[in-house]
Amino acid sequence: MTPPAGPGTLASSSVRTVSTRDDADLKFDFSTRIRQPDFMILEGIVTTRDSHGTVNVAAMGPIVGEGMRSLLLRPYQSTTTYQNLKAHPEGVFHIVDDVELLVRSALNLFDAPPAMVPTSEISGSVLADSCRWYEFRVTELDDSRERTEIQAEIVHTGSLRDFLGFNRAKHAVIEYAILASRLFMLDEADVARHYGEFRTILEKTGSPQEFRAFELVTDYVIKQWPHFRQTVTSLNS
Ligand SMILES: Cc1cc2nc3c(=O)[nH]c(=O)nc-3n(C[C@H](O)[C@H](O)[C@H](O)COP(=O)(O)O)c2cc1C
Repeated sequence: MTPPAGPGTLASSSVRTVSTRDDADLKFDFSTRIRQPDFMILEGIVTTRDSHGTVNVAAMGPIVGEGMRSLLLRPYQSTTTYQNLKAHPEGVFHIVDDVELLVRSALNLFDAPPAMVPTSEISGSVLADSCRWYEFRVTELDDSRERTEIQAEIVHTGSLRDFLGFNRAKHAVIEYAILASRLFMLDEADVARHYGEFRTILEKTGSPQEFRAFELVTDYVIKQWPHFRQTVTSLNS
């Protein structure tokens, strides 16, 4: 995907990357991160490039430390994100509030490449419909396990617009998309049960964007499990 030319940054700033306690802990205390009050997994979208400059867009949930000075990405070896970061160790992590964009990024459902603008410090692409972005460089890559651990430092950050705010339907869609991206390891009846819970939240709180995103996920699930709707109906009757 070739990003369109032209400036896209309304507000951006270079950040000095400093070695902090959270950077050190991200490297060494991965398994106990949930006990660290200043760590969390932040769900967003990562753009990377392959050795020919082709852009890949993927939903990812890196572990972030206090102050967002570094990221610990954990892409599976099967993902293009991992392969790209190994070939070209730079990328952009985006905070988004558009769950349709997130779903398309997770399930590779783009009809056309999303709008992008150039990066400032690295060779990469920024999603034009993101709220904030974080340009990063890989500092360490451990691919001794199927789920790799890629430590990266943030070298530039910028913002395009305010984050809309919380919405329960958006969270339901995100949970549903995560399940859909792991169908190979899940049970159809379990996913159908979750579908019912997510659908209730969607109907109570969702806007058209969340409904569209929800349908995209369901269509994707049905491609893998053609009887999914019947499974949902049988569980709820
Ligand atoms: C919110 C969210 C977070 C995700 N986080 C990760 C992650 O940390 N690591 C991973 O390998 N896949 C993650 N996924 C699944 C990937 O987005 C999915 O496998 C995608 O197809 C990978 O794209 P790629 O092969 O183009 O890199 C996540 C999905 C969602 C919806």
